[in-house]
This record gives sequence, structure tokens and C-alpha cells, in this order.
Amino acid sequence: MRIAPSVRSIAIAIACAVAGLGVARAQHQHGHDHSMPASQPVDDRREFVKFPAPLVEHTLANMRDHLLALQEIQDHLGQGHFDVAARIAEARLGMSSLGLHGAHDVAPFMPQGMQDAGTAMHKAASRFAVTATDAGVTNDYKAALAGLAEVTATCVACHAGYKIK
Ligand code: HEC
Repeated sequence: MRIAPSVRSIAIAIACAVAGLGVARAQHQHGHDHSMPASQPVDDRREFVKFPAPLVEHTLANMRDHLLALQEIQDHLGQGHFDVAARIAEARLGMSSLGLHGAHDVAPFMPQGMQDAGTAMHKAASRFAVTATDAGVTNDYKAALAGLAEVTATCVACHAGYKIK
């Protein structure tokens, strides 16, 4: 069907107005609707933290290993290898990982809140390691999964607050 140009431009004007209303509504609803992602580009309230360039790359590489560690932990939990899950958590995310990640190099560049978020992650991972080790005896999956969720929550908390690039 061919539409007369004037009708088409009216249709476009209406479409734009509706789209505009949609944006206004989305903005208005922010803060009430928890299904909206918290870190949309339009509403990025994360604090920018300036790291020296090599430390940015180093930190992001560590981060990718954090995610890999989580995946490996879940994989081993799924297979009932609680002890292996515990070892990965302690060595790669827990208190034992502090040296591994060069925490001493980056800490001086971090605001206190970011340092605390990092410490919270190391502690949660070490707690999970203990819970998972116990679960190897009791087979208490619920406790192990709840402990793992506490670890993931510390990733989420730091990501919500800070960015380095
Ligand atoms: C102390 C703060 C902090 C903690 C804790 C933390 N992260 Fe991050 N992570 C960051 C920052 C800062 C970035 C970079 C974000 C930016 O600049 O946009 C990042 C980026 C990442 C990235 C992207 C890497 C890339 O190549 O771009 C991944 C993946 C990631 N984090 C995984 C994790 C996982 C998984 C955990 C928890 C086990 C975790 N992080 C815990 C601060 C943290």
C-alpha cells in the first residue's frame, strides 16, 4: 500500500512522540522498577577510579580469571567435587589469592570503599571454601550454593560502585 507523504510524516511524528514518552516514562520509573539493569549507560553512577594503564590491563585479566574461577567452581559443585570447588575458591578468589593478584600494587589506587569490596570478596570466598569442604561430608548443597551466592554478591557490589575505564 502506498501512503501519501503527508500522512507518512504525521505517522513518523506520532511514532517519535510515543518513543519520547517511552523514554520519559522509563526515566521516571527508574529507582522503582528493580527489573531494570542498574548500570545502563544513561544512568552510570559508578565512581571512576584512575589506575595506571598497565594496572588496568592487569586488573581486567584478573577479573576474567575471577569469572573463570566461578565457572569452574560451579562445574565442580555440579559434579559433587566439593573439595575441588573449595580449593579453587580459596586459591583464586580467597584470602590466599591476595599475593597472586598483586593486591599490593593496586590497593594504593583504590578508594577505601573499593578496597573494602575487594576484601569482602576474598573473605566470602574463603568462607565458601570452608562451607564447601564441610558440604563434602554433609552433602549440604544448599549451604554451598548459598555461600557461593555470597561470593557472587561481592562481585556485583563492586561492579555497581566502581569503574576503571
Ligand atoms: C573490588 C572491586 C571488584 C570486585 C570485588 C570484583 N570486580 Fe570485577 N571488575 C571490577 C572493575 C572496576 C572492573 C572494570 C569495570 C569498568 O571499568 O567498566 C571489573 C571488570 C570485570 C570483568 C570484565 C573484564 C574485562 O576484560 O573487561 C569481569 C569478567 C569481572 N570483573 C568479573 C568479576 C567476578 C566474577 C568477580 C567476583 C568473583 C569480580 N569481578 C569482583 C571490580 C571488581
